[in-house]
Amino acid sequence: MGTVYLTRKAEFAASHYYHSPELSAEENLRLFGKCNNPNGHGHNYTLEVTVKGAVDATSGFVVDLKQLKEIMNREVLEAMDHRFLNKEVPEFETLIPTTENIAIAAWRRLEPKLKAAQLHRVRVYETPDLFVDFYGEA
Ligand code: NI
Repeated sequence: MGTVYLTRKAEFAASHYYHSPELSAEENLRLFGKCNNPNGHGHNYTLEVTVKGAVDATSGFVVDLKQLKEIMNREVLEAMDHRFLNKEVPEFETLIPTTENIAIAAWRRLEPKLKAAQLHRVRVYETPDLFVDFYGEA
């Protein structure tokens, strides 16, 4: 039996701003423009989590769907939904909460919690026209 890829989608809203401590105030403004405003601005993000594996002969599933939903809710949505990412999510005290870094942070939160299925991809949409894919550190 071949490998099957299953994706679950979830939406969350969060605010952020972009600021690098390695840059001066002028350089931050030049690089990040209005996204550098420390009062932040919001996005409606979409998270897509893809797991892969063989289909279980007994259940017909590649993953326990209820467990996947619970892990996404607990590890990512409860931490990031309706949050000011820079101030309320520990990863973003040091990392700039770009869509790239949100995808990496979501992967790092999800990957150790998934048991039966293997995490394949985390995709984060910042807008319908812009998304980031992360396939893990390797
Ligand atoms: Ni933004």
